[in-house]
Amino acid sequence: MSKSYSIAILGATGAVGTELLELLENRDFPLSHLKLLASERSVGRTLRFKGENLSIESVSDRAFENVDLVLASAGGSTSKTWATKAVEKGAVVIDNSSAFRMHPEVPLVVPEVNPLDAANHKGIIANPNCTTILMTLAVWPLHQVNPVQRIVAATYQSASGAGAKAMAEVKSQASAILQGQPPVAEVLPYTLAFNLFPHNSPLNDVGYCEEEMKMVNETRKIFGTQQIRITATCVRVPVLRAHSEAINIEFQTPFNPDVAREILSSAPGVKLVEDWRTNHFPMPIEATGKDEVLVGRIRQDISHPCGLELWLCGDQIRKGAALNAVQIAELLIEKNWLKPVTVRVSSEKK
Ligand code: A2P
Repeated sequence: MSKSYSIAILGATGAVGTELLELLENRDFPLSHLKLLASERSVGRTLRFKGENLSIESVSDRAFENVDLVLASAGGSTSKTWATKAVEKGAVVIDNSSAFRMHPEVPLVVPEVNPLDAANHKGIIANPNCTTILMTLAVWPLHQVNPVQRIVAATYQSASGAGAKAMAEVKSQASAILQGQPPVAEVLPYTLAFNLFPHNSPLNDVGYCEEEMKMVNETRKIFGTQQIRITATCVRVPVLRAHSEAINIEFQTPFNPDVAREILSSAPGVKLVEDWRTNHFPMPIEATGKDEVLVGRIRQDISHPCGLELWLCGDQIRKGAALNAVQIAELLIEKNWLKPVTVRVSSEKK
């Protein structure tokens, strides 16, 4: 009989947590036990899994006893508090927050791009930022045949990136506006319904927000090179759960768009969506609930001989977060990399 594993979801009641639950059920993950962890606020609630109601427990040291794998999606500060404690109890943590992503001893993994990095984990593996995951899936296969020199990205990010409460808030803002009432913004910084605003993560001293710098730094770490020049503008848009990105890529030498199309049509995790006759290209509504990143509108950049333009949409909660984490877990199991931890990772960035 093949082995099965005891899993804990930290942040089980959140947007990503509930998606993790669904994926573990639908992908027939080899589970022996499933523990649902959240804050004190959620104790007493239950969530359905394989026809049963599972109780939510509040996170504590003891909660990680006899757990093989923790899938964490409860925000950076919760991960900083609990990830190393879970590792000390013998679990491997796949962390969806940004707490450990740039730590030199923590692999940052997109299974279709850099699966081998996962082998070197010391107890924690970081799941990259959602916009970064989606972009790497489309750019990596092209980078393999013609090295990328520079990327200019603009993102159109859905409410789901700000959590389940933000998704609910956009709906109530829309309904208030339609009824002639003033919209309320409590979770989101501003009204998002019928509006958009630049991503509201903290700004650095040259005017880039954290989300933009995640795309820059994480992409380089995942690709294993500091040589690619990357710039991004991240914007929150009133879409519920799939992100879109306009990406301009400059390669070492000219890249025929038909060749890029051919490569992307068989790239793992990517689905080409292009009907030039009807102007049908990826749309967030069609990416919602899908595992693949939809890529299309591949065309020559008329301003640069080595440039290509492309457009993509991907489900931020699914491939941008939960699915990527589950795929990392499956990779660890398949390759037998769920090994005992020998070196601990500190919660401080070195
Ligand atoms: P809770 O529902 O009990 O607040 P989202 O990203 O959709 O907002 O979800 C965040 C998830 O992280 C939720 O499951 C939330 O649980 C959980 N969470 C937030 N803060 C903590 C905390 N301090 N300890 C444990 N879980 C937390």
